[in-house]
Amino acid sequence: MGRNMILSPSILAADFSILGKQIKEVEEAGAEYLHIDVMDGSFVPSISFGMPVIASIRKATGMIFDVHLMIERPERYIEEFAAIGADSITFHLEAVKEPGIVIDKIHGLGKKAGLSVKPATPISEIIPYADKLDMLLVMTVEPGFGGQEYIPASTERIREARRIFSERGLATDIQVDGGIRADNVHVVLEAGANVIVAGSAIFKGDIGENIKNMRKAFAAFEK
Ligand code: DX5
Ligand code: ZN
Repeated sequence: MGRNMILSPSILAADFSILGKQIKEVEEAGAEYLHIDVMDGSFVPSISFGMPVIASIRKATGMIFDVHLMIERPERYIEEFAAIGADSITFHLEAVKEPGIVIDKIHGLGKKAGLSVKPATPISEIIPYADKLDMLLVMTVEPGFGGQEYIPASTERIREARRIFSERGLATDIQVDGGIRADNVHVVLEAGANVIVAGSAIFKGDIGENIKNMRKAFAAFEK
């Protein structure tokens, strides 16, 4: 094992009337990343938020901004997301013609590059980009909404992704997103994921308590 486990709370499930306060809470409770879901109403049915929100929360925290772009032709906005404070930029394989060029563009701006796949996209499609990526995001629900149930077939997909990286001698981060809670996180950790996104499981109820429970589940897995 020994893989670095990272928690990335998704602010999509936050109370936006007190967003700054809730971000402070996740930071103080020790979450490493902040997962920021950008939706355009076209790549996914819903619209979330965009640049002004990200720019203003950038001033409120030193956390690593893990930006998940659920937008068509994300290459149009990479410079802007980098400029307003994204540390890691993840886009969808299904939303671009040339993933390799977009990855290079992100790297050219000194940011980490992530590639995401929806539940129906074969994992093998990421192989051409495997050695360029900092992170692969295996969606564990259909992107677009928080609060959905984990899709069980995801487990085998995470395993396949970990196999692809291991066979190439790569320890690339594998992120999972959707339906992850303290009581099922062991399933994705065991399959090879190490960057855990959670929205509802962190922001609904007591944030500090929820993060503690998630950490306990990480620790239990390490034993
Ligand atoms: C869904 C988003 C997720 C979402 C996860 O399209 O990418 O990040 O916030 O929410 P939960 O953890 O509630 O499933
Ligand atoms: Zn997300």
